[in-house]
Amino acid sequence: MILVTGISGGLGGLIHRGLSALDGLEVAGGTRSGDGVTARRIDFDDPASLAAGFHGVDVLVFVSAGYAEDDVVLARHGAVVDAAEAAGVRHVVYTSLARSGEPLTIAPPHRWTEARLAAASFEVTILRNGLYAEIPAGLAVLGAATAAESGVFTAALGTGRMTAVAREDLADVAVRVAAEIRHDLAAGRRSRHAGRTYELEGVEAVGGGDLAEALTGVLDRPVRYRPIPLSAAREALTGLGLEPYQVTHTLSTFSNVIAGNLQARGSDLPALLPAKPRPVRDQILRALAAAAGGH
Ligand SMILES: NC(=O)c1ccc[n+]([C@@H]2O[C@H](COP(=O)([O-])OP(=O)(O)OC[C@H]3O[C@@H](n4cnc5c(N)ncnc54)[C@H](OP(=O)(O)O)[C@@H]3O)[C@@H](O)[C@H]2O)c1
Repeated sequence: MILVTGISGGLGGLIHRGLSALDGLEVAGGTRSGDGVTARRIDFDDPASLAAGFHGVDVLVFVSAGYAEDDVVLARHGAVVDAAEAAGVRHVVYTSLARSGEPLTIAPPHRWTEARLAAASFEVTILRNGLYAEIPAGLAVLGAATAAESGVFTAALGTGRMTAVAREDLADVAVRVAAEIRHDLAAGRRSRHAGRTYELEGVEAVGGGDLAEALTGVLDRPVRYRPIPLSAAREALTGLGLEPYQVTHTLSTFSNVIAGNLQARGSDLPALLPAKPRPVRDQILRALAAAAGGH
């Protein structure tokens, strides 16, 4: 059986639906509030739920649960590895962070988890996911009202750009990889994906100028990009009611875009997808339309 964790979330939900649509696979999903019927109860903060929830699972699609302080994420990811070993899971697919994200403050728990998985008794495949297209899309949405009024889009991106990827593409790869692993195990062989790390970087980079261009199209008025300092971004983020660690991670993203660190060189994504990666620009336009109530 394949079990996907975090199916109440954006990525886990897509992976679970994609696997469930395939013939001949036994697929289960896990959520923190699982009722045991539609979904198993899988709470990484509650080891007892993992011991029961991983029963009968041979392929575990372990979606990271990174929304917390690092020490909390390390504890919960470590508990998943321990429980998967104890339950006799044969192969774990972990959704990690792409190489271009190495300098980000969100990177250490991912790399720590990769190392814990590598030392475990089961086979492992690492899907190193690029930054979601919703990150630049969210910035465009945040700046849309001001841009509509003033014709200026502001963000702390300097002249840098970030490579981004559609979450749907990442889910499509996870579905393919998990299904192929299950087939390989059923055929009595070690999976072709065992021991592999795939860099699922996007193939498109966007910066402030690109977001202003998208806003120009949607708002039907010229919008130009004006970079703002990190100090102004910090002040603005503080007023949004975010958790302190979210402010840290967001500023780290901005600062690495400004430094030109988030542009990927090379990706395994195109080779693992049946079609071209979804254009990030389309995702940004869709997010702007949705925010304007268009869809
Ligand atoms: N590559 C990127 O750009 C990027 C950006 C943001 C996040 N991420 C990482 O990718 C992961 C998946 O992304 P997403 O878009 O699916 O996020 P999402 O929509 O916020 O979903 C997160 C999922 O993690 C589950 N979760 C949280 N804490 C958990 C716990 N203690 N035990 C078990 N499950 C728990 C949530 O369950 P509940 O519904 O019960 O809370 C939810 O299903 C995130 O969790 C984060 O680690 C990557």
